[in-house]
Amino acid sequence: MIISGNSCPGRSTNLPEKNKAHSMIVGTGRAVPPKVLTNQDLEKIVDTTDEWIRERTGIQSRFIVEEGTANSDLCTEAALKALEEGQTDPRDVDLLLVGTVTGDAKFPATAVYVQDKLGAKKAVAFDISAACSAFVYGLALADSLIQTRGYKNALVIGAEILTSMTDWEDRATCVLFGDGAGAVLLKPANGPRGILGTYMMSDGSLADLLYSPGGGSRFPASHRTVDEGLHFLKMKGREVFKSAVQCMGDAAIKILEQTGITKDQVDLLITHQANIRIIRATAKRLGMPMEKVFVNIERYGNTSSASIPIALDEARKARRLKEGDLCLMVVFGGGFTWGSALVRM
Ligand code: UT7
Repeated sequence: MIISGNSCPGRSTNLPEKNKAHSMIVGTGRAVPPKVLTNQDLEKIVDTTDEWIRERTGIQSRFIVEEGTANSDLCTEAALKALEEGQTDPRDVDLLLVGTVTGDAKFPATAVYVQDKLGAKKAVAFDISAACSAFVYGLALADSLIQTRGYKNALVIGAEILTSMTDWEDRATCVLFGDGAGAVLLKPANGPRGILGTYMMSDGSLADLLYSPGGGSRFPASHRTVDEGLHFLKMKGREVFKSAVQCMGDAAIKILEQTGITKDQVDLLITHQANIRIIRATAKRLGMPMEKVFVNIERYGNTSSASIPIALDEARKARRLKEGDLCLMVVFGGGFTWGSALVRM
């Protein structure tokens, strides 16, 4: 064993049984709103400093939406870029998954709004709720469905407007999050390129460490829920931090063991961009140098389910990932949920 440490709670029941690609990424895209909120802007809103935010999180600025922009708007922009790169007409999309916890409305799924905006009339469209892990869960699901149901053009999007549930008076959380969307287009693999394996895991006993309790069936939206701020995101940061390092490390180890690929063969590690200290600790646990780790948290903050696909798109466009490279993605989020995907680009 290359790496030491305790195992995360939960059983590894859903490891992939394969070591060959069933689907491959043929296009990626990202979208962020134009407005940038810097640490200096936040200093004027809450009792915080640029120094504290940079040292404790690595974040310098983040993109935030202005009133009137919905999740599906960002999804559609990111999806169109992925489709253009993949030279695919939106009308040929047959599977459309959106990972989000901040959809346009409580229902229907944001994915159906995106379907309508794209004119993807042939697609089956639905959302995945797995907090920050939803994009990797979506990748795993789409890969399986391409294999078992013969889908030909699958869009997997991670998109979040977490500022819609941010408590701007809570300095412990409001400095962390940003808005954005990332999308990938998957097609059946026709060579060595593609998704070599995926891994997913959850542990519901830790749900109350990171959640938004109001507005659901437990506490339906009312004056009381709003007065008590139950619609805001709540987080026990220190506990979440420890689990994030543990679980992302475990998810990386599982997928490497499952596929028989060593950490030295991995060209780029993309972790969920939640905190630079979490990213560094995960890399250290895996014994991977930071030169092999993609980091963009300083400009985006934590964009939850959008974090991995935005990073993936940036890494490809910046040529940090080239055709044939091995990319390891690891993610962690509320639920708790965590997972990984190993992809030959
Ligand atoms: O994407 C989902 C997963 N989410 C995460 O992975 C987030 C995981 N957690 C974290 O990234 C970190 O725990 C935080 C960035 C949220 C907090 O960093 P920390 O080093 O764990 O700080 P802490 O919560 O232990 O707080 C240390 C101090 C406290 O003051 P005292 O009690 O020591 O006097 C806080 O009140 O820092 C204070 N503090 C702040 N000070 C200035 C908390 N937030 C701020 C702030 N500005 N924004």
